[in-house]
Amino acid sequence: MHGSVADGHRLARVSPPDQQLSPLRLIRTVIRNPIETWPKPVYEQPLYRSRFMGREIVFVMEPDLIRQVLVDQADAFVKAESLRRALQPLLGDAILTADGARWRWQRQAAAPIFRPDQIRSFVPAMIAAAERRRELWLSRVGQEVNVAQEMMHTTFDIIAETMLSSQGRADVSRVEQAFTDYLNTTSWVIALILLRAPRWMPYPGRRRAERARDYLRGEVARIVSERRHGDQAYPDLITRLLKATDPETGRAMSDRDMVDNVLTFITAGHETTALALTWTFYLLSLHPEIEERVVQEIEAVTQGSALREEHVEALSYTRQVILEAMRLYPPAPVVVRTATRDVSLGAEVIRAGSPTYIPIYAIQRHRLLWDEPDTFDPDRFAPEAVKARHRYAYLPFGAGPRICIGMSFALSEAVVILATLLQSVRLSLRPSFVPELKQRVTLRPAAGMPMRIQSR
Ligand code: HEM
Repeated sequence: MHGSVADGHRLARVSPPDQQLSPLRLIRTVIRNPIETWPKPVYEQPLYRSRFMGREIVFVMEPDLIRQVLVDQADAFVKAESLRRALQPLLGDAILTADGARWRWQRQAAAPIFRPDQIRSFVPAMIAAAERRRELWLSRVGQEVNVAQEMMHTTFDIIAETMLSSQGRADVSRVEQAFTDYLNTTSWVIALILLRAPRWMPYPGRRRAERARDYLRGEVARIVSERRHGDQAYPDLITRLLKATDPETGRAMSDRDMVDNVLTFITAGHETTALALTWTFYLLSLHPEIEERVVQEIEAVTQGSALREEHVEALSYTRQVILEAMRLYPPAPVVVRTATRDVSLGAEVIRAGSPTYIPIYAIQRHRLLWDEPDTFDPDRFAPEAVKARHRYAYLPFGAGPRICIGMSFALSEAVVILATLLQSVRLSLRPSFVPELKQRVTLRPAAGMPMRIQSR
């Protein structure tokens, strides 16, 4: 095992309450940071039921039961109301938020763009964006940057380039601020759902979130309209979606469907990978011996040359490091469903209407599933170790029919960015800085990730 005890106490983690919080504390905590409401049994037991205002919420942690929910009996579950109400104002009824036939055809429309040959064709754009970031950093050696923000900009560049062919280059800082303003209010939405408040209920930040939503949707609508009426065809997501037709109705996507889907891909497709990288840099700075192993692998594979597409596959330890970082800090820390009928899970029953949590963050640190769960150890992802483990003990990308469509894209992208940057720079965390984990749909470092750039 790598990772010393001295490092251990600095590794950011959630401190769970011993048991379910009292109703008032629960609501206050949901608003501040929903993940802090999960009590210890969620990290220690196979299944846990909590109650709030007469409604039951079921947490499922046992890998065989997880497979039941996400795969074997997936047709008995839909996306949960909390996700829908938190995200639909921004993302509409597109691939991430829709269910049933409406989801299926949107997934099929987008799927070809994520085939392995397509993803390989995106790697040069990923490398170019990583190299641009590296040049910027090399001009700022000795300075401190917020790595969370830097990674957000880098992955945004890549998603814009590969999915939208960089149409109508957006003001990245403004776009990021808009996402933050919007996502910051989602915990209020979750709290109001728990309280069964009506949708019109005002809450702090609501107006700002609505302005952010209007801005983001307006920007994307402009891009879609230019593409619909332009004569240039690019080999990208927009072209695919414009050509797709719903097999049930035979109709193509409306402007609204287009905006919903394109914005969904931008949202789902850049912040998550940026967070995976941010937490990876954080962990590496606390584990120099592991960073050294990564750097040596990069040198051995590239022979000191610039990174190329054919190197990506060979960087297996680099990939293991990213996988282990996503175990400790899963960018999407939970998936939530609602049972549409009573569902038997082994000896347990989930009642129709019950929100069902697959708490990825807790599963990946579960006492029954992992040795020394809070220790950073990329050797857990060596091929033999992976084979010896239950497939559903690790699910940063979810599982089953709703598994992340961008999984391979994200992994290639993360390897490319990490390897390109580590070739030339070293990042050191601001001394004694301990990030606070904050759940805002994704798992963010609450105050960013201040790290100093050094050349290597
Ligand atoms: C490290 C990066 C990423 C992580 C951790 C991640 C995680 C996830 C997870 C957990 C889900 C399943 C949600 C559920 O079952 O409720 C999901 C779905 C999805 N992801 Fe990702 N994702 C990542 C990167 C990406 C990228 C790069 C893209 C697109 C370019 C993307 C697009 C999507 C879409 C469209 C869905 C919805 C799929 C569906 O419902 O059919 N994601 N992602």
